[in-house]
Amino acid sequence: MKIAVLPGDGIGKEVTAEAVKVLRAALGSEAVEFTEAPVGGAGVEAAGDPLPPHTLEIAQRADAILFGSAGVPGDEAVPYAMRPGASLLRLRKALGLFANFRPAFLFPELVDASTLKREVVEGLDIMILRELTGDLYFGEPRGVITNAAGEREAFNTMRYSEGEVERIARVAFETARRRRRKVCSVDKANVLETMQLWREVVTRVGKDYPDVELTHVFVDAAAMMLMRSPKQFDVIVTGNVFGDILSDAAAMLTGSIGMLPSASMAAGSKGLYEPVQNVANPLAAILSAEMMLRYSFDDARNADRISRAVRKVLAAGYRTADIFQPGMERVGTKEMGDAVAAALS
Ligand code: IPM
Ligand code: MG
Repeated sequence: MKIAVLPGDGIGKEVTAEAVKVLRAALGSEAVEFTEAPVGGAGVEAAGDPLPPHTLEIAQRADAILFGSAGVPGDEAVPYAMRPGASLLRLRKALGLFANFRPAFLFPELVDASTLKREVVEGLDIMILRELTGDLYFGEPRGVITNAAGEREAFNTMRYSEGEVERIARVAFETARRRRRKVCSVDKANVLETMQLWREVVTRVGKDYPDVELTHVFVDAAAMMLMRSPKQFDVIVTGNVFGDILSDAAAMLTGSIGMLPSASMAAGSKGLYEPVQNVANPLAAILSAEMMLRYSFDDARNADRISRAVRKVLAAGYRTADIFQPGMERVGTKEMGDAVAAALS
C-alpha cells in the first residue's frame, strides 16, 4: 500500500498525524509506505506553489492519499492559482476525483451532541454523494471583467456534460444497492438548464436500476427535509455546489463536522481521504483513514477495527471541545488519537 500523506496547513497537520498513528497501529507490520509532501501554504513555503509538481507526482503515484487541510484565513485575496485553499481543488481535478462520498452518521454515544432532537437524528445514516470535478467550481468561462458601465463584473459558469452526470449517477445507484436502495437526486431543475439536463440524465440512468427507488428534490426543499426528517434519506446525489452546502448541513445533524470523514474517488480504487473540515477533533481524519482502508485497499477487517475503536473511546467518555458534554472527559487532539490507537488492541 502506497499512501501519500498531505497534511497541509494549520490543524491539518495535527489531525493527519493522529490518522497516520492509528493506521500504523491498525496495520502493524503490513507493508505500507507513507510518503509525506507539502501542500497549501506549506507548499508555497517549500516550493513556491500550493500544489508543487513534486507533491502532485507523489499523489499520482500513490494508491491513496490522506489529506489534512489546506488554506489560511483570508487566502481568498490571493489569485486562484497561487491560493493555498485552491490546492485541494487542483488536486481533485488533476487526479479525476469526481465522486465525493460524505457519510453523515450518528454515533449513538453522540446523540446529545446534535442540536436536533434525539428522535430526529437517532440512528441517522445517510450518504451524500457529491460530484466533485464539475459545476460552478470548474465551469468555463469564469473571471472578472470591467463592464460597459465601467464597474467590475464577475462570473462563473454552471456546467455539466451528460457524461459527467451519468458517471456520478451510476456511482449513486451502485452505492444505494449496497445500502437501503434509495437514491434522492437533488437539483434545481425548475430554474437552471444545467439542472434540467442533470435530472434527465439521472432519470435515464435510473432505468438501469429498477431495484433502486429514485426521487428528485429541488435543493431548497432538500435543505428543509434534511433538517426536518433526515432519516428519510439513504443516498443523496447532487452536483458540486449543492453538495458542498448540503454536506455541511448534514454534518451538523451529527453534532460536529469534526466527526465526519470523506472519500473522493477516481474511477477504480484510487481515492483521497480527508476530514470534511478541520476542528481540533482528529476523529474525522481517523475515520477518513478508515474509509481509505475500506475503499482503496478493500480491507474491511482493519476498517472495522478502527471504527470499533472510535466507538469504544466515545463510549469511555473522551470528547474533544467540539463535541464536549458535561460529565465527559475533555481531551486534546493528540490524546484523542492516542486513545483510539490504544483502543485498537
Ligand atoms: C469542502 C470545502 C472545499 C470545497 C473548499 C475548501 C474549497 O468546503 O471540501 O467542502 O468547497 O469543496
Ligand atoms: Mg465545503
